[in-house]
Amino acid sequence: MTCENLGEFIQLLEAKQELLRIKVPVSPCLEITEIADRIAKSEGGGKALLFEQVEGSSFPLLINAFGSSRRIALALGADNLELPGKRLREIMETDIPKKFTDKLRLLEKAFGLARCFPRAVNISQPPCQEVIRRGPEVDLLQLPLLQCWPDDGGKFITLPVVFTKSLLTGKRNAGMYRLQVFDKNTTGMHWHVHKDGAHNFREYEQRGQKMEVAVAIGTDPAVTYAATAPLPPGVDEMLLAGFLRRRPVKMVPAVTVNLEVPAEAEIILEGYIDPRERRLEGPFGDHTGYYSLPDQYPVFHVTALTHRKNAVYSTTVVGRPPMEDCYLALATERLFLPLLTTLWPEIKDYRLPWEGVFHNVALVSIKKEYPGQAHKVMHGLWGSGQMSFCKMLVVVDENIRLDSGRALLREILSRIDLQSDIIVTDGILDALDHSAPQPFFGGKLGVDATGPVAGDPLPRNANFDPVTAAPGTIAQDIKALDPGFGDCRMLFPDLALPLFLISIEKTAQKRGTYFRDLLLKNEILPAGIIVFYDGDIDIHDDSLVMWKAFNNVDPRRDISRQGKLMTIDATRKSEPDGHHRPWPDDLINSAEIKGRVDARWKQYGLPLDCHSSI
Ligand SMILES: Cc1cc2nc3c(=O)[nH]c(=O)nc-3n(C[C@H](O)[C@H](O)[C@H](O)COP(=O)(O)O)c2cc1C
Repeated sequence: MTCENLGEFIQLLEAKQELLRIKVPVSPCLEITEIADRIAKSEGGGKALLFEQVEGSSFPLLINAFGSSRRIALALGADNLELPGKRLREIMETDIPKKFTDKLRLLEKAFGLARCFPRAVNISQPPCQEVIRRGPEVDLLQLPLLQCWPDDGGKFITLPVVFTKSLLTGKRNAGMYRLQVFDKNTTGMHWHVHKDGAHNFREYEQRGQKMEVAVAIGTDPAVTYAATAPLPPGVDEMLLAGFLRRRPVKMVPAVTVNLEVPAEAEIILEGYIDPRERRLEGPFGDHTGYYSLPDQYPVFHVTALTHRKNAVYSTTVVGRPPMEDCYLALATERLFLPLLTTLWPEIKDYRLPWEGVFHNVALVSIKKEYPGQAHKVMHGLWGSGQMSFCKMLVVVDENIRLDSGRALLREILSRIDLQSDIIVTDGILDALDHSAPQPFFGGKLGVDATGPVAGDPLPRNANFDPVTAAPGTIAQDIKALDPGFGDCRMLFPDLALPLFLISIEKTAQKRGTYFRDLLLKNEILPAGIIVFYDGDIDIHDDSLVMWKAFNNVDPRRDISRQGKLMTIDATRKSEPDGHHRPWPDDLINSAEIKGRVDARWKQYGLPLDCHSSI
């Protein structure tokens, strides 16, 4: 079953017992974040939340609507997330029909596809324009805008579908880019430099022409998802939404700009961007779990705000995973597998572990047939669409399960040879990567953990003896080198290449390189991968150590190899480490808000088993 609009999705979620209503007044300033964060991090992503009374606004607010495997599948009109990808694969694998029955099947497919194309309709009063506010009547502050995290630069619209058109081709783009609300009729437009919205904008900028923009908030779930999907430039996201819904998205003309908007949306903002104007946007508590740094972004002037009579405001809070957006990313991971296998048929599966916050790490399994094939796949992915943002790529053989956590890590460590199977190169990075010495560009790590085939360039999987000393002795020996060495955790001691997680207390003089050199010089560890963490990190928390290692490391600067040892510096960096830009803080809600939410939890009527603060 697919939904025509957000109202139908809310009904569906309610019918499936996937939605909880909060009837008491709640503040949009940090309180909703604290509640949503606890629910999102509870078993399986908790339920969707509908706040019926948001202080300072008459609009109800929906959050966490996509935040579980079941809800994201429902959003895409499927029972499970593998199905849309399977449908896509069937279309892509269509052969030239030979028999009459094949021809009929092809026709069926073609008609099915024809039904996916967005349809411009002429309705005298489309639902999204039941209420129309123009010019001076526009007041964005009437919306239940969230301040998500304590150090956010202001209030943000966090789940908007932003429509623009290419000046050169006239083709539509829909992308999700957050909007910081500056006042009643202007917002920031936070499209990253690599995104299609930013590309369209540069066309207007080059001609010195104002750019028209429309934003839909609260659409049917397939449209909202489609705006987040990494489609190739020029491919209309509304076509993907139509494919997922199995019926066209109805589009109507906006009232003040020459763009079409989804007829069934809850709320529409219309307006323009003057290419000469920029304003400081952020900081914003981002999906990396850190604040994204403030920067200059274009300004969106809102000329009309239209909405349904009983519009629901749809939003999300992002932060350290798992959060709602992880499930949007999961949908992309599953849906785009058939597209990746079209380009690289050897790819059998891939995963984007949540601790890698989508752009930092991809695990890929391949059917390997010839030497160097993993490297071919790595370089291909690093040159392809939004996979090109990926900082660390690990390639394994097709028989290795990518969702097996510790077992997967064991497989990788038992297969790689530090000299022949690791590549460090450079390339573009996601705008949110804070570890690289400069924005948008930095080191990349490729790990070829596939088994050897005849003709592989160097001896693979060199056999050397496992470390024989007990973990406790090693920890003591390391600590004796310098009081700055703290806790030490050894994983996989039975392997030739064990993993050591070590806390260090950096000082002005003693940086990561000091601890690294000390360890290497003293030859306490004969072989292994050593990861350094700041002293305040609990190195026994698996998710935390992965998240820090994936986020805080620039492979070019922070990874060193010497013989059978590799060190990775996952501490925070600053000038003395060769990092010449600000380093963002972790997202932590205020103690006051946590206390308030603790005290009110029963009033919200939410499950008691997820009320404790995180
Ligand atoms: C909740 C959420 C918020 C996002 N916010 C932004 C953002 O502020 N800026 C941005 O460039 N991408 C953001 N993204 C990622 C883009 O939506 C995504 O890369 C999309 O494919 C961009 O579309 P485009 O390729 O058509 O530009 C966000 C994604 C999600 C799920």
